Amino acid sequence: MRIVIVGGRGQLGRELARVLAPDHDILSVDLPECDITQRSEIDCIASYLPDVVIHTAAMTDVDACARDPLAAYRSNALGTHNVAIACQRANAAMLYISTNEVFDGAKDAPYLEWDEPHPLNPYGASKLAGERYVQMLLEHFYIVRTAWMFSLGRNNFIAKILAAAKEKRALAVVDDEIGNPTYAPDLARALAELIETNHFGIYHLVGEGVASRYDWAARVLQRAGMSDVPLARTKLADYQRDSTPPRNGALANFVAATTLGIKLRPWPEALEEYFASLKT
Ligand SMILES: NC(=O)c1ccc[n+]([C@@H]2O[C@H](COP(=O)([O-])OP(=O)(O)OC[C@H]3O[C@@H](n4cnc5c(N)ncnc54)[C@H](OP(=O)(O)O)[C@@H]3O)[C@@H](O)[C@H]2O)c1
Repeated sequence: MRIVIVGGRGQLGRELARVLAPDHDILSVDLPECDITQRSEIDCIASYLPDVVIHTAAMTDVDACARDPLAAYRSNALGTHNVAIACQRANAAMLYISTNEVFDGAKDAPYLEWDEPHPLNPYGASKLAGERYVQMLLEHFYIVRTAWMFSLGRNNFIAKILAAAKEKRALAVVDDEIGNPTYAPDLARALAELIETNHFGIYHLVGEGVASRYDWAARVLQRAGMSDVPLARTKLADYQRDSTPPRNGALANFVAATTLGIKLRPWPEALEEYFASLKT
C-alpha cells in the first residue's frame, strides 16, 4: 500500500514508519514542511496518491492546550479537517489517532468504543472535534483511541519520573488517575494489522491492563533499580496543573480484540522490553 504518515517525526509516527517501511511505500510528513493547519501545505498528502493516511499529528501538550484552547482546536480539529479533505481528494482511507481524554472519567469501568464521549478539557474536546470531522467527511475511516503512550527517547511519563527521581530523590505521584500504559511500538504493530483489514470503525487500542499513575511510577522505579527512591501517594485534587485529566482514563479494547483478534500485550511486559532496549 501507499501510506502517508502525518506527524511522522512524533513518538508514534516514528514507530509507524519503522514498522510499515518494509512492506509499504511510505511518505512521512511533519512540521515544518507540512503544517496541517495550513490548507496550502496539505497538497503533498493527496499528491502522493495514498491508499491510507495515518494521521498522528496533534498538539499533544495537554496543559498547553488548556492554556490556549484555540491553538488546540486549530491543530487538532481544523488540522484534522484539512487532513480529511486531503483523504477525500485522494480517495484514501484515513486512520485518525484519538485519545482516552475524549471521556470524562466518571465511569467506574474501562471505557468501551460506544461509550458517549464527554471531554473535560480542551485537548480532549479538540481531539473529539477531530473525530467528528473524520466521521462527517469520510466514508472509509478508522478512529483509534489510545492512552498513556511511551517509547524510547521521548519526553514522556517514564522519562519524567526517572529524571525527577535522579534529581529530587523523592517523588509524589497521583494514585487516583488510572489509564493504560501503551508502548508505541506495540501500538504501531497493531495499527499495521488494522489497516490491512478494511474493517472501518472506532477502536480502542491500548496496552492490556489498567494502572494508576502511582502503580506505573512504582514499576518504573523498580525496573530502573531505583526502588530506594521514596514514592508517596498523592491525589489529583492536590496536584496543580492547567489541564484536568479524566480520573478514569482507562479504555477497553473490545472491538478490535473480539472482531479482528488485534490486541496489545500487557503493559508490564512491554515495559520489560522498553528497559531491555535501553541497554542495547
Ligand atoms: N502520547 C500519548 O500519551 C497519547 C495518548 C493518547 C492519544 N495520543 C494521540 O496520539 C497521537 C500521536 O501522539 P504522539 O505521542 O506521537 O505525539 P507527538 O510525539 O507529540 O507527535 C505529534 C507530531 O505531530 C507534529 N505536529 C504538531 N502540530 C502539527 C501541525 N500543525 N502540522 C503538522 N505536524 C504537527 C508534532 O511536531 P512538533 O513536535 O514539532 O510539535 C509531532 O512531530 C496524537 O494524535 C495524540 O493526540 C497520544
